[in-house]
Amino acid sequence: MDMPAENFQDLVWSDDLALGVEDIDEQHKHWIELVQAFHVAVAEGRSREEVYRTLADAVVYTEIHFASEQKVMEEAGYPFLADHLVQHSLAWEQLHAFTTGNVPEENIAEYLATFLPQWLMLHINSADRQFARWLKERDAVPAELADAQLSGRVFPNIPV
Ligand SMILES: [Fe+2]
Repeated sequence: MDMPAENFQDLVWSDDLALGVEDIDEQHKHWIELVQAFHVAVAEGRSREEVYRTLADAVVYTEIHFASEQKVMEEAGYPFLADHLVQHSLAWEQLHAFTTGNVPEENIAEYLATFLPQWLMLHINSADRQFARWLKERDAVPAELADAQLSGRVFPNIPV
C-alpha cells in the first residue's frame, strides 16, 4: 500500500492547531510527534521492532491523552462531552478493528500509519476546536449573566 505523502507533510504541529487550552495544546504537540514517529518508521521501512515500538508509544499516549482531555472537559462542564467521548471511542474501536479484524498482519502497520494521522488531524481541527470555542465563549460571558442563564433568567437585575 502506498503511503499518502500529504499525510506525512500535514502531520506537524502548527499554531493553526492551537486551541488556546494550554494543557491540551501541549498534549496535542506530543501526540503529533509520536504519531509522526510511527508514520516515519512505516514510510521509511524501518525494522518491524521500531515500527511496533513507535506504534505502541503512539497508542499508549492516545489513551493517556483521551483520559486527560476528558477530565478537562468534565471539569469545564462541557455540555457536548458525551458526543466527544463517542468520537474517542469510535477511534479506539477502529484501532482495534485493524488489529483484530480482517486486515492481514503485514498490512496493519501501514493501515494504521494512514488512519492515525488522518483521524488525529481531523479530530483536533473539528471536535477539539469546537470545545475550545465553547470554552472561550463561556469565559467571555460575564459571571452574573452566566448565573442568570443557568437559572433561566436573562436579566437577573430585573424582577420578574
Ligand atoms: Fe478529543
